Amino acid sequence: MDQSMRDTFAKRAVQLREYIFSQPTHQFKNNPWAVAHAIDEFAETHGHMMIFNEKKLQVAQAQLAAQQPAPRTILEFGAFVGKSAIAWGAILRDIYGEKVPEDVHVYTFELDPQMVLLARELIQLAGIHDLVHVLEGPASESLQKLHREGKVSSVDMAFFDHWEKYYLPDLQLIEDLNLFRTGSLAIADNTDFPGAPDYLKYVKAGGKGTAGSVKYESRSFETESRPGKPSVVEVSTVVATE
Ligand SMILES: C[S@@+](CC[C@H](N)C(=O)[O-])C[C@H]1O[C@@H](n2cnc3c(N)ncnc32)[C@H](O)[C@@H]1O
Repeated sequence: MDQSMRDTFAKRAVQLREYIFSQPTHQFKNNPWAVAHAIDEFAETHGHMMIFNEKKLQVAQAQLAAQQPAPRTILEFGAFVGKSAIAWGAILRDIYGEKVPEDVHVYTFELDPQMVLLARELIQLAGIHDLVHVLEGPASESLQKLHREGKVSSVDMAFFDHWEKYYLPDLQLIEDLNLFRTGSLAIADNTDFPGAPDYLKYVKAGGKGTAGSVKYESRSFETESRPGKPSVVEVSTVVATE
């Protein structure tokens, strides 16, 4: 992404903050869906926001709701303002009810310190700061640290929505750390545009294809979108880990 796009998104993030906090906050407190929907509404009315849209989110939500055993650890690559991270928190609350078990977590990774602050603020407002954690810095470094510290030993869903060149190396890092189980999900946005051809080729081929490697079954879900807009969510399910 070029500098002018970065500046536009940074400005829009500041406007989003004003938009949310200019409204009565009681409607958002302890209500992650209300915060997520308000971010969507802002994106609809104030310009494009590079967030995982509602239709795509529904595809991922259906996958998570059907997952057995129920998801306990979600990794998100690319937090931006925290919209999809807040939605994962809301989905986990829908699955478990208000009392989400203490060992259920969403870890979301973000490079941009300004976005980290805003995402944390919105997560706090939504009342899910015990559940959703924003880690600043390159995703691969944060994930290795979480693993080293024993905070993440298994991953139920990994969501790839950062810069596309990192999708495949970060998926392979999860494999190298032995974090997937049979039934784990790798969900990726933007595989149609701007596209992540090496990632797509890899998951469509079922993985590395060597003895003992993680094997995937992968499906491209086409969602409704405005003409010319990206519409595909790639859902890859781990069918074997050895
Ligand atoms: C498309 S946005 C994420 C949108 C977010 N998932 C949502 O739907 O609300 C991509 C974000 O990934 C971040 N990013 C890109 N590469 C990264 C990396 N290697 N590690 C951590 N964050 C990264 C960017 O700074 C940007 O904020």
